[in-house]
Amino acid sequence: MRIIFAIYAVLIVYQSLEAEGLAINLGTRSSHPLPADIVVKLLKDNGFNKVKLFEAQPDVLQALGKSGIQVMVGIPNDLLAPLASSVSAAVSWVQQNVSTFVSKYGTDIRYVAVGNEPFLKTYNNMFVQSTFPALKNIQAALIKAGLGQKVKATIPLNADVYEAINGLPSGGDFRADIKDLMVSIVKFVNDNGAPLMVNIYPFLSLYADANFPVDYAFFDGSAAPVMDGSITYTNVFEANYDTFVSTLEKNGFPNVEIIVGEVGWPTDGDPNANLQYARKFNQGLLDRIIQGKGTPKRPSPPDIYLFALTDEDAKSIEPGKFERHWGLFYFDGVVKYPLGLGNGRNITGAKGVKYLERKWCVMKPEGGLSDVALPQDINNACSYADCTSLGYGSSCGALDARSNASYAFNMYYQTMDQRKGSCEQFHNLTIVTSIDPSPGQGSACRFEIMIDVGKHEQRRRSSSAGKRSYCNCFFGHVLILLALMTFGTF
Ligand SMILES: *[C@@H]1O[C@H](CO)[C@@H](O)[C@H](O)[C@H]1NC(C)=O
Ligand SMILES: *[C@@H]1O[C@H](CO)[C@@H](O)[C@H](O)[C@H]1NC(C)=O
Ligand SMILES: *[C@@H]1O[C@H](CO)[C@@H](O)[C@H](O)[C@H]1NC(C)=O
Ligand SMILES: *[C@@H]1O[C@H](CO)[C@@H](O)[C@H](O)[C@H]1NC(C)=O
Repeated sequence: MRIIFAIYAVLIVYQSLEAEGLAINLGTRSSHPLPADIVVKLLKDNGFNKVKLFEAQPDVLQALGKSGIQVMVGIPNDLLAPLASSVSAAVSWVQQNVSTFVSKYGTDIRYVAVGNEPFLKTYNNMFVQSTFPALKNIQAALIKAGLGQKVKATIPLNADVYEAINGLPSGGDFRADIKDLMVSIVKFVNDNGAPLMVNIYPFLSLYADANFPVDYAFFDGSAAPVMDGSITYTNVFEANYDTFVSTLEKNGFPNVEIIVGEVGWPTDGDPNANLQYARKFNQGLLDRIIQGKGTPKRPSPPDIYLFALTDEDAKSIEPGKFERHWGLFYFDGVVKYPLGLGNGRNITGAKGVKYLERKWCVMKPEGGLSDVALPQDINNACSYADCTSLGYGSSCGALDARSNASYAFNMYYQTMDQRKGSCEQFHNLTIVTSIDPSPGQGSACRFEIMIDVGKHEQRRRSSSAGKRSYCNCFFGHVLILLALMTFGTF
């Protein structure tokens, strides 16, 4: 009897996972992004059947067509003002970025995410005027396109739109400066049958406050739980989420649906950003999702979009060096750490990735360390390529001076696609080698070889020959260059 019940329970969990599936964010700020078809396969292989895009990437939206994966399409903040000021701009945005993909490729678009954390305090009210009008125009355009029932518009909010007045979840309310605006937005979203979306980051709570109790960031109990009336909170994720629930109750919306738009843990670029912590956090989170666990105030579980699928080496590091390391997978789709998906399976890596040649650019084995040109050469390499793994407490932070310099030069060489001359420009201090310089053995430090973007393009073009190609490859390369230039200014 008990065994049958157990089997039943397993089946129910399995079925609910299969039915509900897992949800994840797909970033775009990568110098060498995985090709769209490989991304879609990677999502499917790992049971992710909901994906959130930060912008309407045509190649990805096309590859997601008839994949069985539900899609949320984002609108970047810099489009909010034009979309707010003109209904016809919203109509054409929906036409080009939603309707086309739904009708032509069968892409299962369910949500449009208007802006990205537009009310973040650090934006200094830059998007406060435009966000709500843009939301209204996009919603109207969706209805006009006949998609009003199927596709809902919402705004990805940062958790700083609300605060716990007395430090407890039950004291939640909207931030005073945007309270009236938020109430209007919630009413609008609710009237349209759309969900609210909030991003919750326990890692950032820990990063921002040296006195934050580490175990309260994770899911396996806390030495110092927070008591809120009769409720005991043992992790900041639940406490933060319930602060939002209280906020909504207090303002007259006890039942509006909530989606967690982003949550995750980075693996590099800060002493608390490492493989062990990331695995512990994400496994705890996945277990909750698989069990269908809610929070003390909302027992029914929300949709939770993990952040993110892969690392992004061209992301702004203004918030911190960890920003480029949120992936469950490295930039090339390689698994970082084992993660159980329930049903006895672990996540699996990307298949069919084509790399550049197995060669690296490193310091010559002798001399050079006291060369006057060395510091500036390293600086130049790192202002173009990603050296965020070299910092204190990061994966390559323990390298000696020679390997440290090699890491910087190799990142430059790889980011430049191993182009001729790109390893020779460092004052005769470097050589190209075919021996992997990664420290190996227990070190998480990787001397990368980049993806061969050109080879993937060729393969894609030949496999879609005859079909109408959606990729304007020249434009794609201009975008990558632009991203690199932007990133080079940091
Ligand atoms: C979406 O549509 C607009 C036209 O309204 C266009 O300017 C934009 O480039 C499209 N693509 C993306 C990624 O937003
Ligand atoms: C999943 O990963 C864990 C940890 O490495 C390992 O012990 C387990 O055997 C793996 N399971 C499968 C099915 O591969
Ligand atoms: C390694 O490189 C980083 C970034 O260039 C630098 O800040 C650090 O001081 C270097 N460490 C050593 C041991 O050379
Ligand atoms: C470059 O360095 C090598 C030794 O590593 C030396 O033999 C050679 O003369 C140098 N070339 C220049 C142009 O300085």
